[in-house]
Amino acid sequence: MQIADVKNVDIVIIGAGFSGLYALHRLRDYNVVCFEAGEGVGGTWYWNRYPGARVDIQSVEYSYSFDKELEQEWSWPEYFSGQAELERYANHVADRHKLRDRIRLSTRVVSMRFDEGINRWQVQTEKGDTVKSKYVVAATGALSAPNSPPWPDRELFEGEIYHTAEWPRDGVDLSGKRVGQIGTGSTGLQVAPMLAEQVEHLYVFQRTPAFAMPSGNRPMDPAYERAWKANYQARRRQMLETYGVSMVMELPQFCAHECTHEEQMAILEEAWNSQSAFKMMIAFKDVMTDKAANELVSEFVRQKIRGIVNNPATAELLCPKTYPLGSKRLCIENGYFEMFNRKNVTLVDVRSDAIVGYTRTGLRTTGAHYDLDVIVNATGFDAITGAMSRIEILGLAGLSLAKKWADGPTVWLGTMIAGFPNLLMIHGPMTPGAQAQMLTSGEWQVDFVARIIDEMERDGLCRIDTTIEAERLWAEEVEMCAQHTLHRFTDSWYNGKNIEGKKGGFMIYIGGFPRFAQLCQAAVNDGYKGFIRSA
Ligand SMILES: Cc1cc2nc3c(=O)[nH]c(=O)nc-3n(C[C@H](O)[C@H](O)[C@H](O)COP(=O)(O)OP(=O)(O)OC[C@H]3O[C@@H](n4cnc5c(N)ncnc54)[C@H](O)[C@@H]3O)c2cc1C
Ligand SMILES: NC(=O)c1ccc[n+]([C@@H]2O[C@H](COP(=O)([O-])OP(=O)(O)OC[C@H]3O[C@@H](n4cnc5c(N)ncnc54)[C@H](OP(=O)(O)O)[C@@H]3O)[C@@H](O)[C@H]2O)c1
Repeated sequence: MQIADVKNVDIVIIGAGFSGLYALHRLRDYNVVCFEAGEGVGGTWYWNRYPGARVDIQSVEYSYSFDKELEQEWSWPEYFSGQAELERYANHVADRHKLRDRIRLSTRVVSMRFDEGINRWQVQTEKGDTVKSKYVVAATGALSAPNSPPWPDRELFEGEIYHTAEWPRDGVDLSGKRVGQIGTGSTGLQVAPMLAEQVEHLYVFQRTPAFAMPSGNRPMDPAYERAWKANYQARRRQMLETYGVSMVMELPQFCAHECTHEEQMAILEEAWNSQSAFKMMIAFKDVMTDKAANELVSEFVRQKIRGIVNNPATAELLCPKTYPLGSKRLCIENGYFEMFNRKNVTLVDVRSDAIVGYTRTGLRTTGAHYDLDVIVNATGFDAITGAMSRIEILGLAGLSLAKKWADGPTVWLGTMIAGFPNLLMIHGPMTPGAQAQMLTSGEWQVDFVARIIDEMERDGLCRIDTTIEAERLWAEEVEMCAQHTLHRFTDSWYNGKNIEGKKGGFMIYIGGFPRFAQLCQAAVNDGYKGFIRSA
């Protein structure tokens, strides 16, 4: 369906990733337009086309549940799909549900101002268009604002610099090149082994080593796929009842100290081979709440690393020792540790010898210089708030969102911000985010937001807002959940500490998806508790 009047719509959706695409479909009966900065749909899977990019959650889970026929028709070629397959899937969904007519690609939203006189957002794009809209659904992504460290003298460097989240569509020829990769998070671990195969020499600049376990990716077993398809709906329902909306798995029955050493090792070995990072984090009941239990699992992983990497000094550097396992995203890897046994790969410790700037021919650290032809920044994102903060958003009485969030984000249910009426977020601050499988949890949040909009329209209302008091309640809930876990001991994008100067505390809801969903539903069922709806 075409948009009736593109200057004056009911709903603007920002972002055509998996959340935005589903929002467009779910809200199709309204006059709705979707603005997407990229030249194509798929969000994360449009942008992150670096070699090795793939999911760390099985594709049978990380896929849409709203289209039951598609669920049966689509075949994932591998257990953990790669970027190309996920982008193909997003495009297929856009075509199948005839979403393209309403998507404006290559159209970044640069500013939004709430006009109190007419209760409409004035949304401005970088092309200079202004659209009036009753609601804005920000499906801008939690991991969509790439972060490159602001080292000086970038313009001096005569080689090429790439960020993994802005990898060129036509790929990059790295054969015969000396490549420096900075960053060893989930992305760094995926891209490095792929680069190592192509380049003359790969320098991996590591500040903090990552906990990782083998993905065990392989071609899809038809019998496994059939079993999922035969039980899809029941499994999806079960997934929503698990902490991380993932793998329907048995919860642990014991704390670590309740098991003998042999039992502990058997449990950990099974978790190591399970192909699910969540399984490692719940090997025992208390992995994420008890330091000793966590250390047991952490040391198990370190021993695995020592067993794989031949050079003992390199192995030791690769062993994470400064934070609890699982307190930042536990990575899934395909040959990362083995890669350090190659002659053309060098691990550089930039914790003890920090990168201080670019030079004409490479990178300099406090104590050395590295000659490089290409620099690959696998340095992550200004996560969770970054995409929203990069838009100038002015709410009631010209209140700026950047100012409001200067000391950290405040939200109600991760969905609304006081003073910014009719603005609804998907994967906003203080939602389960990376503590959950984000495609299905995003779909759930779209349904939640759509329900709010449907009920506003049913009741003939004009404006929905939340309150500072509700934001305070949510902050308490988020803090209460975080306090019981070991997450608070770690600096990462979960608390914004990966970005120099970024303020605020823990930005992820770690009370588990079922509790999050239940609190969201309860608020709405309880007469829109924490919201203010008006005519
Ligand atoms: C490399 C990588 C791998 C990941 N792997 C997994 C995984 O295995 N499992 C998992 O659960 N999650 C994973 N994630 C998280 C992933 O982001 C989510 O699973 C999911 O794709 C989020 O979808 P989304 O639509 O909410 O956001 P996104 O996919 O990030 O889409 C947001 C879109 O909004 C657009 N946008 C932002 N700002 C503007 C603006 N101002 N104007 C116009 N458009 C704008 C962006 O261009 C982007 O296309 C991964 C993330 C990354 C970066
Ligand atoms: N499906 C998957 O397997 C997959 C793949 C990629 C991404 N993801 C998702 O995306 C999230 C982000 O992953 P990401 O790897 O892109 O980002 P990330 O986890 O934030 O990792 C960024 C890396 O860059 C390093 N870095 C940043 N600034 C640096 C500096 N100034 N000097 C040296 N090193 C620096 C960080 O070191 P420090 O740790 O010391 O800060 C870290 O190793 C993941 O947590 C996950 O949720 C998933």
